[in-house]
Amino acid sequence: MIHDSILDTVGNTPIVRINRLAPSHVTMYVKCEFFNPMSSVKDRLALGVILDAEARGTLKPGQTVVEATSGNTGIALAMVCAARGYPFIAFMSDSFSIERRKLMRALGAKVVLVPAALRGTGLVEAAEAFATKHGHFLARQFENEANPAYHRNTTGPEILTDFAGKRLDWYVSGWGTGGTLTGVGQMLKLARPETRIVATEPVAASMLAGKEWTPHKIQGWTPNLVPAVLDRNVFDHDLPVTDEQARDTARALAQREGIFCGLSAGGTFAAALRVANELAQPGDVILAMLPDTGERYLSTFLFEGINEGTDEV
Ligand SMILES: Cc1ncc(COP(=O)(O)O)c(C=O)c1O
Repeated sequence: MIHDSILDTVGNTPIVRINRLAPSHVTMYVKCEFFNPMSSVKDRLALGVILDAEARGTLKPGQTVVEATSGNTGIALAMVCAARGYPFIAFMSDSFSIERRKLMRALGAKVVLVPAALRGTGLVEAAEAFATKHGHFLARQFENEANPAYHRNTTGPEILTDFAGKRLDWYVSGWGTGGTLTGVGQMLKLARPETRIVATEPVAASMLAGKEWTPHKIQGWTPNLVPAVLDRNVFDHDLPVTDEQARDTARALAQREGIFCGLSAGGTFAAALRVANELAQPGDVILAMLPDTGERYLSTFLFEGINEGTDEV
C-alpha cells in the first residue's frame, strides 16, 4: 500500500476480538488506536485540528503551533507539524513520562515543562498566554470543535462500517478532551440508537459522576476540568475504574491477549469487563477503545516491578 504522506496513514485502525479475557457469555472487541503512525488516538485530533485551521485560514503557512498536552497530543501534533512544515511547541506537565518529551523532541518539537501542581487548567493558561504573546496558533484541543468533528467523520464511521449488519450492544470509552467519546458516541446514537454508550474515568477523578478531581495515574484521562467539547448527553452509563485496575488490565491484555496498550486502554477495558459482568445480557457484543501503546509508559507505574536484569528460568 503506497501513501502520499505519513498523514494518510492516520485512522482506519483495526478492531480485534478478545479471545481469552472475555467472559464466555459475551463477545468483546477492542479498537486498537496504537496502529496510528505515532501510536495513539491523538493522531486523529492533531490532523483534524491542523486541516481545519488550514481550511479556515486561521493557521498561516509556516506559523508556529502551540498546545497544552498530556503528551500524546503533543507527539501527534509534532508529527503532523513536521509533515506539513509548521514549528511546534508543546506545554507539558512535568509529571508525565519522560519518553513523551523525548519523542516530541525527536520529531523536531520544543517542549516547555510546567509544574504538575498547576494542574490541567494552569497548563492550558500557560500555553494560551505564550501563544497570545507571540502570535502563535493555539490548537485548543479541549475547546476546538474540529476535535470531536474528526471523530464524527472518521472513528465513528469506521466502527459503523466494521459492525454493519452485526450486533453492537455496548461502546466503552474514557475521556481526556472528550473528543473520542463525543464524536463516536454522537454517531452511534444517530446510526445505532440501540448501542449503549459507556463512559469511564478514574475513580480518583470521576468528574462526570459529580466527584471532585484528585490526582490519578491514568495519563491522558480526566484533566481537572470537564472540557467544552465533551457532550454530557452522549453516554448512558459511567463506570469509573481505579489506577490499579487500569494497570492490571493493561498487563492482562499484554500477557493473555498479546495486545500491548497503555494505562487508559487498560482502564477502558477494565470498564468493558465491568459492563460484561454487571450490565450485559448473554450474547451481548461490547467494543472498547484502546487509545495508545504500552511503549509510552516504560518509565511509569505500568512497568513497576518489571525486572530489568536476567530472569530465573
Ligand atoms: C492515553 C490517552 N488516553 C485517552 C485519551 C482521551 O482521548 P480524548 O481526548 O479523545 O478524550 C487521551 C487523550 O487525551 C490519551 O492521551
